[in-house]
Amino acid sequence: MGGGEHPRSARYLEINRENWDARVAAHVASATYEVDRFRSDPSFLSAVVRFDLPLLGDVRGAAGVHLQCHIGTDTVSLARLGASMTGLDFSRPAVEAARALAAATGDDATFVHAELDRAVEVLGPGRFDVVYTGIGALCWLPRVDDWASVVAALLAPGGRLFVREAHPMLWAMDDERADLVVARFPYFEQPEPLVYDSALTYVQTEEVFASTTAAVWNHGLGETVTALLRRGLAITGLAEHDSVPWNALPGQMECGAGGEWRLREDPSRLAHSFTLQAVKP
Ligand SMILES: C[S@@+](CC[C@H](N)C(=O)[O-])C[C@H]1O[C@@H](n2cnc3c(N)ncnc32)[C@H](O)[C@@H]1O
Repeated sequence: MGGGEHPRSARYLEINRENWDARVAAHVASATYEVDRFRSDPSFLSAVVRFDLPLLGDVRGAAGVHLQCHIGTDTVSLARLGASMTGLDFSRPAVEAARALAAATGDDATFVHAELDRAVEVLGPGRFDVVYTGIGALCWLPRVDDWASVVAALLAPGGRLFVREAHPMLWAMDDERADLVVARFPYFEQPEPLVYDSALTYVQTEEVFASTTAAVWNHGLGETVTALLRRGLAITGLAEHDSVPWNALPGQMECGAGGEWRLREDPSRLAHSFTLQAVKP
């Protein structure tokens, strides 16, 4: 990667991997990820991909890669839309769960266990028509510029990036306040992560997790757009949404149609998520 060695980032990578590994079983069993629906209904799509459909367009016949694919529910959904999918994630239990899902459903999705910054090395450059990612993916990466270089290298000429992600303004909000929407955390990318300790996850579960520490980085919207431009990609779409697919500000949000959460009081105050699309010339 362009930035040289980052020993501190390497340490945080391990902390985050342990955090994710510990959460996989609870996520597979959760109502949020609806794994059983994928197994029983061959036409079922994740709520995340259903939301994406109007902007995503046709992916039939595309070679697609889903970066930070977690347990593969969105990856399998994209395969069900006709793409030939590869998922990549640094959590071994997540990749195993994703492989088990695709094996059970027979969808065209294979899964690779690797860190994001090794994606080009393990998958090969210039191979993909579509790079798909998001919904709690970018916050685990220290430098959005490094991410953009991976995306650009994976894409074939004419290939496109589709990312729907929580909005950096939402990440900056204080998620411990139930009364007011208050900016508490950095909006712009910082060299040091925000390190937090939480026994919780974003699905309903009784499970008590052994790994509770995690390190996250925010990336300003302009920083993300600029990183892609710097790698020679052409931005083809940037939509901001007044909803996000999880309860990001507990006590202040309500769930609406399609499993999308928004502020109960005047959601137009805050961009909750964004969809960014770009093409490699
Ligand atoms: C919230 S999930 C996002 C995927 C998708 N939105 C979902 O919910 O199924 C975040 C994923 O990023 C993965 N991850 C975090 N840091 C990573 C890294 N450096 N390289 C590869 N995967 C990483 C985690 O293992 C986790 O599966």
